Amino acid sequence: MGAQMLDGKAYAKTLAEQLKKEFAELKAKGREGHLVSLSIGSDESSDWYVSNQKKAAEKLGVRYTADRIDAASTREQAAARIREICARPDVTGMILQLPVPKHLDANDLAKVIDPAKNVEGVDPDNLGHLVMKQYRNLPCTARAAVELAAQSGIDFKGKHAVVLGRSIIVGKPAAMLLLDKDCTVTICHSRTPNLPEVCRQADILVTAMGAKPGIVNGDYVKPGAVVVDVATIAVEGGKYAGDCDFESVNKVAGWLSPVPGGVGSVTTQILFKNTLETLKRQ
Ligand SMILES: NC(=O)c1ccc[n+]([C@@H]2O[C@H](COP(=O)([O-])OP(=O)(O)OC[C@H]3O[C@@H](n4cnc5c(N)ncnc54)[C@H](OP(=O)(O)O)[C@@H]3O)[C@@H](O)[C@H]2O)c1
Repeated sequence: MGAQMLDGKAYAKTLAEQLKKEFAELKAKGREGHLVSLSIGSDESSDWYVSNQKKAAEKLGVRYTADRIDAASTREQAAARIREICARPDVTGMILQLPVPKHLDANDLAKVIDPAKNVEGVDPDNLGHLVMKQYRNLPCTARAAVELAAQSGIDFKGKHAVVLGRSIIVGKPAAMLLLDKDCTVTICHSRTPNLPEVCRQADILVTAMGAKPGIVNGDYVKPGAVVVDVATIAVEGGKYAGDCDFESVNKVAGWLSPVPGGVGSVTTQILFKNTLETLKRQ
């Protein structure tokens, strides 16, 4: 018998229904959600995300504006456009699409976004509030990974969680969220020795490396563990794979999130959940 699936598609559907209802209720009271995306130049994968977000917004009844400035824009021009977007009272939240052109620094520009409108939650203010357990906009992917496991009724209290990856987008915020759920947390990275041995101690294993498909195999997994695979790695034929070798992990784990159909399916809805919560706060 294989692991039980952490079904991201099903959870995304449930979330979408709830969000649609709440956005409609607020709209009826004259408060319309409006998300603005800013792209600097164009990039195939980020343009794909924009079109996906646009479709999701339409389904949820949220206004979505895809703004774009020239790839050659200076830091000052990009910052000016971000400030202009955030200053508009009709704008609920904004997203800066990544990657930005090489001459710009995404982390520097993220600091220009008004934290109250940064629905992606990856800036010093929102991350600082996360560390203080005073949640504002939580980083979407980390929130999606933890919520996907939580909604399945998984008990976190006192469990040992191991997070593979220490990025500010996924690894670190996921570790903070797990800590707040009373897990004992170990964060691993490319310099961690004996990775399989550390992972085998995990009751909850969150993998967010994205280096090579299938690195995490059954030898990394404690029997019955919850495995949440965050990675999305482009493979041949326009498909995506995760960090986990699905077949061997599935034989050992108690719960497993598939790729595709796991965390990635939930992340977009979490972006709109952050937008809804932002709208309610404004
Ligand atoms: N599902 C979604 O919605 C969603 C959203 C965002 C990202 N993602 C995916 O999640 C993955 C991680 O994204 P990210 O932005 O966090 O990536 P990132 O910034 O490249 O961070 C990757 C992390 O994994 C660690 N790592 C890489 N190879 C490793 C190895 N062989 N052994 C141990 N640790 C290793 C790195 O360690 P060092 O710090 O030592 O370099 C780093 O901390 C990617 O596949 C990305 O596509 C998915």
